[in-house]
Amino acid sequence: MQFFNEHGICRDDIICLFKETFTASEGEAEGDLVANLVTGMFDSVAPHDIHVFTAFDEGKLVGAVIFTRMNFVEDDRTVFILSPAAVATARQGEGIGQALLSHGIGNLRKIGADVVLTYGDPCFYSKVGFGKITGKLARAPLPLSHPEGWLGQSLTTETLTPLKGASTCVAPLDNQLLW
Ligand SMILES: CC(C)(COP(=O)(O)OP(=O)(O)OC[C@H]1O[C@@H](n2cnc3c(N)ncnc32)[C@H](O)[C@@H]1OP(=O)(O)O)[C@@H](O)C(=O)NCCC(=O)NCCS
Repeated sequence: MQFFNEHGICRDDIICLFKETFTASEGEAEGDLVANLVTGMFDSVAPHDIHVFTAFDEGKLVGAVIFTRMNFVEDDRTVFILSPAAVATARQGEGIGQALLSHGIGNLRKIGADVVLTYGDPCFYSKVGFGKITGKLARAPLPLSHPEGWLGQSLTTETLTPLKGASTCVAPLDNQLLW
């Protein structure tokens, strides 16, 4: 398994991986929604606001995770949100998702990010350091339909303390269907 930190050369393969994986797990509409999200991120998010990490096995793309910047208007910490993440349907449950996320989070820590947030299944994401948080600790940019899936972790030696003020996310994530 090899991990890579840039996505330029395999952009279309990554979009296809997200579309196929989410179509298989949650249906065609979700597959299209996530493929459009990723396309929008690749097309419109400034390079310093997005980090894409991929996993390849024997030359084939088997996993991808995307982190984009969030801003908390009254807080100067560097915050990224993980969304979305996918491992090829036929390769799920082998540990690829956890290994790829650990790789990505380790890289974010190296570039000086302070906090990473995500919104998803606590059972899975707790395996890579995320814990449940509330709106008091970090206000979500849009109302959450499943507040129990709001998760975060500190990437520094400091415990996660409340992120101050309202938050904004990149434009492609600013879509209530995703929250
Ligand atoms: C969620 C996902 C990225 C996990 O990647 P993975 O490589 O299958 O996960 P791993 O093998 O590293 O870890 C599996 C562990 O997470 C848990 N888990 C949670 N959701 C799971 C899923 N859909 N498939 C497999 N395991 C899952 C399992 O309990 C397992 O625990 P164990 O290690 O104690 O057995 C992947 O299954 C996937 O792409 N699912 C469909 C798309 C999705 O839901 N993405 C996340 C939301 S953005």
